[in-house]
Amino acid sequence: MKVVIQDDAAQVAAYCADLIVRRIVARPAMVLGLATGATPLALYRELVAACRAGRVSFREVSTFNLDEYWGLPAVHPQSYRHFMDRHLFDHIDIDPVNTAVPRGDAANAAQACADYEAAIARKGGIDLQLLGIGRNGHIGFNEPFSSLRSRTRIKTLSRSTIADNARFFAAGEFQPHLAITMGIGTILESRTALLVATGAAKAAAIRAMVEGPVTASCPASALQLHERAVVVIDEAAASALTDVEFFKHIERENRRLENPGPGTPPH
Ligand code: PGA
Repeated sequence: MKVVIQDDAAQVAAYCADLIVRRIVARPAMVLGLATGATPLALYRELVAACRAGRVSFREVSTFNLDEYWGLPAVHPQSYRHFMDRHLFDHIDIDPVNTAVPRGDAANAAQACADYEAAIARKGGIDLQLLGIGRNGHIGFNEPFSSLRSRTRIKTLSRSTIADNARFFAAGEFQPHLAITMGIGTILESRTALLVATGAAKAAAIRAMVEGPVTASCPASALQLHERAVVVIDEAAASALTDVEFFKHIERENRRLENPGPGTPPH
């Protein structure tokens, strides 16, 4: 697990946007896994700006979102499909046909889940999956005690997730308690997993994810088994890690290896 610690949320967004832009430039038809929530918003603004400035094109990119509220149609203003259109897809040059979000109003849940997995497979799998993390360690809507090899399915949201997301709903508005989500096994098959977190409220979950153990109590800890997991966090989210300096040291070394100066001795 590569842990990159940035000064603040703005730097986290800039770092991740730069990484995603470079991946798309290198592979214009890449398959990008996307996430909702408050954390990726700044990153999406950066991607929109990069696209408008002509630094990247999404014309050939395909996307798969992690999850959707079960029971909400795509047109519902609280749906994650609506969130993605409003914050990203409507402002970039992506072909809407290539943007997939699980259907929250499918007649047959089991079929919708199987179809989503099949659609990912048809595209050749996810090249880079963006992830947030819940205070309870969830990734996607894989709540604590999700099977670590789970696939796309319907999940019951935990009380803490419902409470955390209540801020997005008006008083008295229907708030779903179920979601359709990629499984942890689905996420682990992405070629790169890019998890972003900012703020002190995420510090305990980040510590549990990075320092282990691997346990279904903290679904994000399964990323320790991912072939290529990159965790980009700000100082506040890193604040409960035992040895922040060690990760900063590794990152300085990585940068030196990527950009060796004229006088840098080889390692
Ligand atoms: P947040 O959600 O970005 O709104 O904190 C993250 C998550 O629950 O995955």
